[in-house]
Amino acid sequence: MVQNLSLWLFILCFYLVNTGFKADTQDEVDKRQPYIVYMGDAAEKYHVEASENHHNLLSKVIGDESKAREVRMYSYGKNIDGFVARLLPHEAERLSRDGGVVSVFKNTQRQLHTTRSWDFLGFVESKYRRSETVESNIIVGVLDTGIYIDSPSFDDKGFGPPPAKWKGKCVTGNNLTRCNNKVIGAKYYHLKQPNYNDTAADYDGHGTHISSTIAGVAVSNANLFGLANGTARGGVPSARIATYKVCWEEGCSAMDMLAAFDEAISDGVDVISISIGGASLPFFEDPIAIGAFHAMKRGILTTCSAGNNGPGLYTVSNLAPWVMTVAANSLDRKFETVVKLGNGLTTTGISLNGFTPTKKMYPLTSGLLASNVTAGDYGEPNACQSGTMGEDKVMGKIVYCEVGSEEAGGSSEGQDHIVRSLKGAGVIVQLLEPIDMATATLIPGSYVFFEDGTKISEYINSTKNPQAVIFKTRTTKMVAPAIASFSARGPQRISPNILKPDISAPGLNILAAYSKLATVTVYPDDKRQTLFSILSGTSMACPHAAAAAAYVKSFHPDWSPAAIKSALMTTATPMRTKDFEAELSYGSGQINPRRAIHPGLVYDITEISYLSFLCKEGYNATSIGLLLGGSNETKKEYRCVDHKQGLGSDGLNYPSMHKQVGSTGTNVSEIFHRTVRNVGYGPSTYVAKIWAPKGVRVEVEPRIMSFVKPGEEKHFKVVINGVMEETMRGVLSASVEWDDSRGHLVRSPILLFQAGRM
Ligand SMILES: *[C@@H]1O[C@H](CO)[C@@H](O)[C@H](O)[C@H]1NC(C)=O
Ligand SMILES: *[C@@H]1O[C@H](CO)[C@@H](O)[C@H](O)[C@H]1NC(C)=O
Ligand SMILES: *[C@@H]1O[C@H](CO)[C@@H](O)[C@H](O)[C@H]1NC(C)=O
Ligand SMILES: *[C@@H]1O[C@H](CO)[C@@H](O)[C@H](O)[C@H]1NC(C)=O
Ligand SMILES: *[C@@H]1O[C@H](CO)[C@@H](O)[C@H](O)[C@H]1NC(C)=O
Ligand SMILES: *[C@@H]1O[C@H](CO)[C@@H](O)[C@H](O)[C@H]1NC(C)=O
Ligand SMILES: *[C@@H]1O[C@H](CO)[C@@H](O)[C@H](O)[C@H]1NC(C)=O
Ligand SMILES: *[C@@H]1O[C@H](CO)[C@@H](O)[C@H](O)[C@H]1NC(C)=O
Repeated sequence: MVQNLSLWLFILCFYLVNTGFKADTQDEVDKRQPYIVYMGDAAEKYHVEASENHHNLLSKVIGDESKAREVRMYSYGKNIDGFVARLLPHEAERLSRDGGVVSVFKNTQRQLHTTRSWDFLGFVESKYRRSETVESNIIVGVLDTGIYIDSPSFDDKGFGPPPAKWKGKCVTGNNLTRCNNKVIGAKYYHLKQPNYNDTAADYDGHGTHISSTIAGVAVSNANLFGLANGTARGGVPSARIATYKVCWEEGCSAMDMLAAFDEAISDGVDVISISIGGASLPFFEDPIAIGAFHAMKRGILTTCSAGNNGPGLYTVSNLAPWVMTVAANSLDRKFETVVKLGNGLTTTGISLNGFTPTKKMYPLTSGLLASNVTAGDYGEPNACQSGTMGEDKVMGKIVYCEVGSEEAGGSSEGQDHIVRSLKGAGVIVQLLEPIDMATATLIPGSYVFFEDGTKISEYINSTKNPQAVIFKTRTTKMVAPAIASFSARGPQRISPNILKPDISAPGLNILAAYSKLATVTVYPDDKRQTLFSILSGTSMACPHAAAAAAYVKSFHPDWSPAAIKSALMTTATPMRTKDFEAELSYGSGQINPRRAIHPGLVYDITEISYLSFLCKEGYNATSIGLLLGGSNETKKEYRCVDHKQGLGSDGLNYPSMHKQVGSTGTNVSEIFHRTVRNVGYGPSTYVAKIWAPKGVRVEVEPRIMSFVKPGEEKHFKVVINGVMEETMRGVLSASVEWDDSRGHLVRSPILLFQAGRM
């Protein structure tokens, strides 16, 4: 690390010396940082090129034309209007006060939210209806780490040329030498830095995994170390993929993501999948919220991962109401790695261990016994921290490692890597809390639960020559779906009355295509490469939902992004979770693509409704006006008109109903107003079915709605009155479901949350 830092400083100094800044003093150079200047919608705005306008604005503020040219890094102008420049804080401040500017914010790094899954969703190849011809006109844009084009999942045999609407490009370079009729586009975006290579090739595996989950063709005998062996395929195997590489080793930067969104929208993608996130931000400073807003304006739904900081509350990210935020749930499969001790005792841990033992038993030791330092001086030997164990005491042995303290847990180097570097034969790691996520180990390894770890420690203490063996991982069945422990939970902090996450999809131990330019684990000294790998994260859930959205779109190409999202949410299967958090973890429930193509009714939301929602959330009206687009001459002055009577307390025709209520008092009372559109084929009558906890009254007015023709809209309201009992721990969970007795069940969860009552 220290070495890397000095190398980096050396490169930086070299760079500064050799590029010869003229006007800047050294001081000023250090203070200049990339800022994003967001100016709303680009459509029909300019008589001149966007970049010329950006240059003029920047020159005006900096007061020096050549400096303005020098500091500008990006100009967006296809859909998103804005630019990126290296600015001083006072210049950023002046720009933010310009009437044509929505927001100015620093460029930040966002992070990746690191197949049988489709069968598990009842989406078995032979049993569901799809039109390959229509589906092959669907293009899914993936913003991620790029793609490994040589994966068998992206074989384009039988595919015709890209759909006529496609305007994107295939930018080749280094290890991405071509596209094909499956992966029809590839572009990359990054800050120019000396240690980068120019390519959309995937050196990580994440982007390849996601792309194949969405639209990979069927590949039989897909497995990792023989595990999860079967046919891997994407949710919409006839659809096309366009890859936009925005993530590099250090993360995914806001300005690169905006550039990718700006182009993907114009390239002609139908759905965007983005498994990236970070701390929640106000919408106009959140690159994903901004990009997805402009996508929505052009009829493109963006699906996002909810984040992996669960299971705590208030951890969910990607919160804009125009994105579909996806939580991760389990499949009915788990990976068990059995450890057998010399005394015959067996314990079952979790991992992806591809190694078959070659001996009956191996000598066993512990981090404590193998340590050659005094505890405290060099870290924690019992946790097998780096630099605490002697090679002579580890070589050829399986090492048992206890849970470390918080700092130890934060170490980025895994015990498998440390033990391997000392030539150990295997590693057993005790877990503080049960986990559900299996990870690949560099050497034979198993993560065991706390009590099992204590038993292993007792055994080591009880004998002179402790022995153990770690078996190859096996798969077993488990009860599913359940929300993954890491999946981020609501409530959210930006728009407190919109329930997030929206929906859930499989994201635990998912097998999908991988990149041969990456290794199985994150370690560069891992030489194992693989065509398929098993990964976990809301990153893996997001593409399942993106594929489901693409599937719905292939049946209803004219539906708005909000209508597609509504169809997926109202047909989702709620989970029978034991957690009190309920909808705060899974939103409306697990996606059910087969039902989503016939939702019966949809809750639609237009661009204008989102804008009036933003007014109510307190965003500046001048800024909101800029989102509408149009030039200074053609655009109308936007005024925040009150839409109250149409929408009720949450202000949006959302397919779920949520309110964070005051933290005092136990009586709660809320009203939600909603409008549904009949998307069934003919006349139909829907009756509201209500589920509510004891002591809570939920009334729907009217209780019965009759539709005469398709496209017809009806309004209704939901009135909730009740007492927040102590046992609810601040979470009042109910639901309303419209039933037409002909198979359409249109369900909305209702969740009232009272903070401070956990
Ligand atoms: C539009 O008008 C405002 C003030 O009236 C001005 O500050 C802004 O620069 C103008 N924008 C463009 C794109 O001309
Ligand atoms: C990546 O490119 C390098 C250089 O052209 C080549 O040697 C290597 O084989 C390529 N790797 C793969 C996995 O295609
Ligand atoms: C490109 O970058 C990746 C990741 O940093 C590296 O593994 C690869 O070797 C590089 N390829 C070339 C051709 O420089
Ligand atoms: C995977 O399954 C196929 C067919 O069921 C079988 O032929 C193949 O040997 C299996 N591969 C592994 C590695 O288990
Ligand atoms: C402990 O062992 C390691 C690995 O063999 C060695 O690098 C280190 O110097 C040793 N430390 C002490 C204090 O002997
Ligand atoms: C085994 O012995 C070590 C060292 O004396 C001790 O720290 C540990 O708690 C013991 N394990 C158990 C399970 O008692
Ligand atoms: C929005 O902000 C701008 C600049 O900060 C200010 O001039 C304008 O009056 C604000 N608009 C409204 C409607 O508050
Ligand atoms: C709460 O509601 C109950 C009946 O629903 C009522 O009797 C009681 O007075 C209410 N309490 C408050 C503080 O409003």
